Amino acid sequence: MVGGARLQGEVRVTGAKNSVLKLMAAALLAEGTTTLLDVPDILDVEIMAELLRRLGCVVEHQRQSQSVVISVPATLEHRADYDLVRRMRASICVLGPLLARCGVADVALPGGDNIGSRGLDMHVEGLIRLGATAVNEHGYLIASSNGRLHGASIYLDFPSVGATETILMAAVTAQGETVIDNVAREPEIVDICQMLIAMGARIDGVGSSTLTVLGVDALEPVTHRAVPDRIVAGTWAVAAAITQGDITVRNALTGHLQIALEKLQIAGAEVSELDDGFRVVMHDRPRAVDIITLPYPGFPTDLQPQFIALNSVADGAALVTENLFEARFRFVQELGRLGADVRIDGHHALVRGRPQLSGAPVDATDIRAGAGLVLAGLVAEGETTIYGVSHIDRGYAGLVPDLIRLGAQISRVFVTNENP
Ligand code: EPU
Repeated sequence: MVGGARLQGEVRVTGAKNSVLKLMAAALLAEGTTTLLDVPDILDVEIMAELLRRLGCVVEHQRQSQSVVISVPATLEHRADYDLVRRMRASICVLGPLLARCGVADVALPGGDNIGSRGLDMHVEGLIRLGATAVNEHGYLIASSNGRLHGASIYLDFPSVGATETILMAAVTAQGETVIDNVAREPEIVDICQMLIAMGARIDGVGSSTLTVLGVDALEPVTHRAVPDRIVAGTWAVAAAITQGDITVRNALTGHLQIALEKLQIAGAEVSELDDGFRVVMHDRPRAVDIITLPYPGFPTDLQPQFIALNSVADGAALVTENLFEARFRFVQELGRLGADVRIDGHHALVRGRPQLSGAPVDATDIRAGAGLVLAGLVAEGETTIYGVSHIDRGYAGLVPDLIRLGAQISRVFVTNENP
């Protein structure tokens, strides 16, 4: 890519990756055919589809209509293999539904990844409270229950997105009432609650920090439209700000991006809300903005690299604090190759804005790091080559064609060995 173009035009975001993957797992809870709408054409959906197939489902990803149709059999396999889990950590989200449906689930342990160590202790403790036993054997977490799970009172030490989902999906068909306190409140959690309720689950407190679940005997398959991807929408908003451009983002919910859009306004952008999205216009060089990542409704960690990219060309200096993932600053070394001035001290990054970055070959190490590097490349002088784009493919559908439509000078080149 060659930096310097002012991006202008319109994009539409699809359903959220981090919702769709969990909705696909939730489909396991009901025998029959579940249809999910507004599904992005991304690698992670393919991996999840393959996982569900190995569990015995028939899965059809219809790209044209952006839907996934999942036919779930009466009897499921209950093993999630390491070759898939290592490709996509979110595979762990089949743990709760498989335990609920089969009374046993063997899920390969994902280990850490490029953004941190990422424990599973809260998932496991929650399942144990619901009556399961859990052992770790040969790299697999094996959870099993003697008969139906039972309701319990569970308090999460931290509002973990994954642990909330695992416990919720196990509790919806448990015997009796489960109260889960200090749950995550991300829009993707609300989305899965809404789908589960449509399937027949009884859940109170949706969107609050306490969920009360009254277990039901069985759930029915449904058709469900995934919540729009707030992180993809937020990435486009930063693209408008960093390129001093003008981008209209359709199918986006401003309410899910409140802090991020306010930060862009502080940086100097004009943000206007539309019926089905928002428009971000930037006329000048952005001003630096401090960021502190926190669980929703705090500033999302999944937009942190994009805002570091923005700050790296902003007027002034900004302090960015990362509270979710300890290794999420790793990518700043790559940003440094483009000339960014970022100093890390523990979970704080001091970003001093430079008037100009300079293009270079860089390596994307995870989805959001990749997005941050693309944004930086859009404004770097000269040519930037981003390797490891398969990471970006995991979360952003059709990114390159969309960027080209908005005026970016970018192309995708296939190389056999992606390492620079
Ligand atoms: N944690 C534990 N123990 C647990 C669970 C979590 O220590 O049992 C820790 C994690 O190690 C991490 C923190 O708690 O430090 C937050 O983890 P959380 O469980 O909330 O995150 P997650 O479910 O693993 C999802 C998204 C992430 C997103 C986070 C936070 C999916 C597939 N992933 O991860 O998305 O950053 O919530 O919002 O939904 C991405 O899309 O790029 C991405 C990383």
